[in-house]
Amino acid sequence: MTNRHLLGIQGLSPPKITALLDLAENYVLLNRSGKTQRDLLRGRTLINLFFEDSTRTRTSFELAGKRLGADVINMSVSTSSVSKGETLLDTAATLNAMNCDLLVVRHNQSGAPALLAQKVEASVINAGDGTHEHPTQAILDALTIRRNKGRLEGLTIAICGDILHSRVARSNFLLLTMMGNQVRLVGPPTLMPAEVGSLGVTVHHDMREGLRGADIVMALRLQRERMSKGGLVPSAREFFAFYGLDAEKLAYAKPDALVMHPGPMNRGVEIDSAVADHPYRSVIKEQVEMGVAVRMAVLDALARGTLWND
Ligand code: CP
Repeated sequence: MTNRHLLGIQGLSPPKITALLDLAENYVLLNRSGKTQRDLLRGRTLINLFFEDSTRTRTSFELAGKRLGADVINMSVSTSSVSKGETLLDTAATLNAMNCDLLVVRHNQSGAPALLAQKVEASVINAGDGTHEHPTQAILDALTIRRNKGRLEGLTIAICGDILHSRVARSNFLLLTMMGNQVRLVGPPTLMPAEVGSLGVTVHHDMREGLRGADIVMALRLQRERMSKGGLVPSAREFFAFYGLDAEKLAYAKPDALVMHPGPMNRGVEIDSAVADHPYRSVIKEQVEMGVAVRMAVLDALARGTLWND
């Protein structure tokens, strides 16, 4: 296993992203055929080390690892020695001593996977760190867009809602602007990062203006668990009135605009059920399917060292 990591979209380049998407496309076909490719990671060990809850990311890394033949261990942090006071670094050093090859890490502190990457032999994959990055989410979103729009450039993408706390938003606008798209961040001033002026995106506080003519509308979850200080949003009901994605606001986007959401969704807060479940506008379920293929592609690329060798 090469000692390379996937810590963020920063560090990737357009050719590397395209190569990852092409590889993931092969895995979409493989998964749909019901076949597996269990030789690639045979004898390798993948540990899912999640300090925050997850449904999609953890399950899809488990499926991806198993479909490629790895031994997959899901560590339950709440029942591990972390609850007895063991530090993040000591936990990682313990797993490293067991000759783990791939360490998939989710943590509430930005930079935790990068810190671990300096300390362990395993390849570290960032599965979401604080408000920093969630790179495999952005790659699976990119694959979903490319499959539905036929391209991943020259599109207008509106990312809406709680931008301030969203690692998904950050990884997405890094990837999407790098690939030549126009990204709009849409939300209240209280939920925009302070450095928003230097991000190479446009900012809209009026959702209808932000959605006007957009090809893609991506709604984000309102992350109340990260709002230690109150007062960022008046109430869920008021947030929905101004920034909830419903049919009336979606009508400002292009007639064939796609609706995306990384999940988990808060229906009636950032998105209306009629939009989330729309039979041909919503690609939310497809995002989940692409998640398995993209994570197989990332594991494949790390195992072979193909994307990280310039
Ligand atoms: N999109 C995402 O990261 O979902 P989970 O929290 O369920 O993994």
